[in-house]
Amino acid sequence: MSTIETQSDIARTSLRLPRHVAIIMDGNGRWAKKRFMPRFAGHKAGVEALKCIVRYCANKGIDVLTMFAFSSENWRRPQEEVSLLMDLLLTSLKREVKKLHDNNVKLRIIGDHHAFSPKLSEKIKEAEQLTQDNTGLVLVMAINYGGRWDITQATRRIGQQIESGDLSSAQIDESLLHSYMALHDLPEPDLFIRTGGEQRVSNFLLWQLAYTELYFTDTLWPNFKEQAFEIALDSFARRQRRFGHTGEQMERSQGA
Ligand code: IPE
Ligand code: IPE
Ligand code: MG
Repeated sequence: MSTIETQSDIARTSLRLPRHVAIIMDGNGRWAKKRFMPRFAGHKAGVEALKCIVRYCANKGIDVLTMFAFSSENWRRPQEEVSLLMDLLLTSLKREVKKLHDNNVKLRIIGDHHAFSPKLSEKIKEAEQLTQDNTGLVLVMAINYGGRWDITQATRRIGQQIESGDLSSAQIDESLLHSYMALHDLPEPDLFIRTGGEQRVSNFLLWQLAYTELYFTDTLWPNFKEQAFEIALDSFARRQRRFGHTGEQMERSQGA
């Protein structure tokens, strides 16, 4: 059994509430189009759905919520949409950070920071510092994030350690690579949700999703509220996670 599929993962399965939920919030553009509104109206409505799910997770006692807000491929969108999205991220961050802090939420941003505007970088740093000692929900926002970028940056940093003589290639194993990846200090995602009807991972958490339960729904992200989330949680609760074991082994370890 590797460090990633531990006894605590197995014990957790029996509690049937995911510790870590990772979500691709997709379908904002189509939500707006259906209402003859500009795509940006869908993104604004998407922020409301995000707030609702954050509140729900904080109340329910879920430990970590990781949200895909902007992928490393989303720069390919029309320039106007990209800049409106960046503005929306900045204004939402400014508007919500105090409320998040008051609710004991710890905010973390993952992704390649280099492409952010100085204003956004500064606001992110401030928000992370303000909330760093909070002990409630860990809210991870993936911005300019890509699973391939994550694996590449981890590999580059390991290469630097080897060049400087602090590490030998023989020391590279799964747990070492894992320790250089985003989210390395948090539990593995238990449940992955993608709204908007597409059944793909779109370069989200490639390394971290190895044993995550996948859930896809046609519901467009701005319509994904408590009830839709509860249906996803219910689907998760009815699954048997086996981490390579047999079903019988899992039943025995859960005392069923
Ligand atoms: C997801 O909604 C939000 C972002 C990628 C920022 P989309 O904008 O992809 O919505 P659809 O897929 O076009 O409906
Ligand atoms: C994935 O959605 C990225 C986010 C939700 C932030 P996309 O809408 O960009 O994914 P593709 O391009 O349809 O795969
Ligand atoms: Mg989309």
